[in-house]
Order: sequence, then structure tokens, then C-alpha cells
Amino acid sequence: MGENTAVKWLLFFFFPALFIYGLLHVYSSKPAQAKKTKDLTAQEEAGRKVYNKFCVGCHGVNGDGQSEAANFFKVKPPNFHTAVFRWKSTPEGSLPTDEDLMRVLNWGIPQTPMPSFKLVPDVQKRAVIAYIKTFSDRWKKEKPGPSVYKDIHRPDWFGSPESIEKGKQIYATNCTSCHGEQGRGDGPIATTLPVPPTDLTYPVRSAGPNPEDTFRVLTVGLEGSPMPKFDFLSEEDRWHLVSYIAYLMNKGK
Ligand code: HEC
Ligand code: HEC
Repeated sequence: MGENTAVKWLLFFFFPALFIYGLLHVYSSKPAQAKKTKDLTAQEEAGRKVYNKFCVGCHGVNGDGQSEAANFFKVKPPNFHTAVFRWKSTPEGSLPTDEDLMRVLNWGIPQTPMPSFKLVPDVQKRAVIAYIKTFSDRWKKEKPGPSVYKDIHRPDWFGSPESIEKGKQIYATNCTSCHGEQGRGDGPIATTLPVPPTDLTYPVRSAGPNPEDTFRVLTVGLEGSPMPKFDFLSEEDRWHLVSYIAYLMNKGK
């Protein structure tokens, strides 16, 4: 074989073959899946299948939030092994209720990569909730709750111009360092935080669709995130803040 033929062979046969082999390899390899590691109930086993279909790509094979996709996210998926949840209505240190988890699945967490699974049947969502609980023994030892929702009563002056004005003042003292003067999430210490402060002018809230959901965030905070709880403010003052946030959300409309 002359030198010329060898080069031709490499160019026209070997390299293209290598390329096609590479492509086939990429397209035929199945994504990693969460394996059955312990005895699961029928519902948990059904949940594992739902998890492998919809969640594994972001939340990781082991449910620890480690995935290739997560490397690109500013807000990382939680580690289900520690069972520390942010988006819940129970006090710091407590597990979330099933309704909290269901709300997250139905609503998603807007402004983060967590999508809504509203169109997935409830029975599958209940199953995947049962499955993510198998990642931590805390679910066997502790009881979730209590949820603050039962104590939340929206006052009839909510959203009035006076309430918005009061909320604006309370906001200026307590919130601008992180969320910024205009609520855009660009306060002076925003860039030093591990999680960006939410843009409160965005027309959809991460916590849920209702003013009660925002009130809940102010009451219990977001555990494991820089967002503190403001339960030292009176209930009235927290409602004024919710009025102001609702005003910021509607401003752009
Ligand atoms: C595209 C990526 C992505 C997919 C798909 C996804 N998640 Fe998430 N999920 C996230 C991210 C990122 C967060 C963190 C958001 C935050 O804390 O603000 C999150 C948060 C959550 C939370 C709330 C955690 C907390 O701290 O309160 C739950 C519960 C959850 N995901 C469950 C699921 C389940 C169950 C599925 C599948 C049905 C799923 N996720 C699919 C990215 C994803
Ligand atoms: C130390 C910084 C810091 C301060 C002070 C702070 N926040 Fe936050 N806040 C955050 C961060 C960070 C997030 C996003 C958390 C996450 O995604 O986990 C957040 C999230 C929120 C959310 C949830 C947004 C949603 O879409 O549901 C609301 C509401 C909120 N903050 C309101 C306030 C109000 C009102 C104040 C003042 C009373 C305040 N915050 C003070 C850092 C802060």
C-alpha cells in the first residue's frame, strides 16, 4: 500500500466509519435511569417509572440533584436525600405536606427550570411523590407540617391603594438589599447570594398562583435559600407587602 493509498483509505473509509460509529453510539445509548435499589410498594414502583420518564434528567439518577442538566442551572435541583424543601408551607426544619409537593408539580417553579406537570394525571403525580420520599428516611420518622395555610385569611382591604402604599414603605426597609428598589431582583447584595433573588415584577409567582402563596413565603421563608422569613412583621404588614408585590406584578400589563 503506497503512502497515498493509505491516506485515501484513512480519509474516505476509516474516518467516516469512525464518525458514523460515534453517531450511532450517541443515539443508541439510553439515558441513565433510577434503578430499583430497595423494596418498593406498588405505588412507589409506579412512581419510579414516572420519575424515570419526567424527572431523572434534572433531578439525577440518585435523586440527589446531580445531573448533567443541573450544571447549567442557576437554581439547582434539591437533594431529595436531605429532604430539605424550599417551596412548602410548613415551618423551617419540617417536611412539606403532600399538598405542598402537589402544588409544586402542578404549578412548577416559574423563573427556574422546574416545569409544571399539570397535564400529568394526578395518580402518577401521587406515585412520584411517594417515590421521591423513598430517598430519605426522614419520611419514616417525622410527620410533615403543620401547614400555615389554614391560618391565612386574606383581609378585605388587600390590594387597596393605601395597602399598596404601606407595603411599598415596608418593602423599602426590608427587601431592597436583595430584590432591588424596583423589585427586579437586582439589589446591592444580589450578586453575592448563591441563588438570585426573584424578580418580583415578573407577572407569575414561583410560590403559587394565589396571594396566599406569597403570604406563606413571607411567613415561613424558603428553607435553605437566602430568602428569610418575616414572621416578626405583623400579619397586617405582611399583607401590605403582598398588596405591593401584586401591584409590581401587574404594573407591566
Ligand atoms: C428541567 C429540569 C427539571 C425537571 C424535568 C424536573 N425538575 Fe423538579 N426542580 C428542578 C429545579 C432546578 C428545581 C429547584 C427550583 C428551586 O428550588 O427554586 C426543582 C425543584 C423541585 C421540587 C421543589 C423542591 C423544593 O425545594 O421545594 C420538587 C418537589 C421537584 N422539583 C420535583 C420534581 C419531580 C417529581 C419531577 C418529575 C415529575 C421534576 N421535579 C422534574 C428542575 C427540574
Ligand atoms: C437576603 C436577601 C433577601 C431579602 C432581604 C429578601 N429576599 Fe425575598 N428572596 C430572596 C431570594 C434569594 C429569593 C429566591 C429564593 C429561591 O429561589 O430559592 C427570594 C424569593 C422571594 C419570594 C418568592 C417569589 C415568588 O415568585 O414566589 C418573595 C415573594 C420574596 N422573596 C419577597 C420578599 C420580600 C417582600 C422581602 C422583604 C420583606 C424579601 N423578599 C427580602 C432573597 C431575599
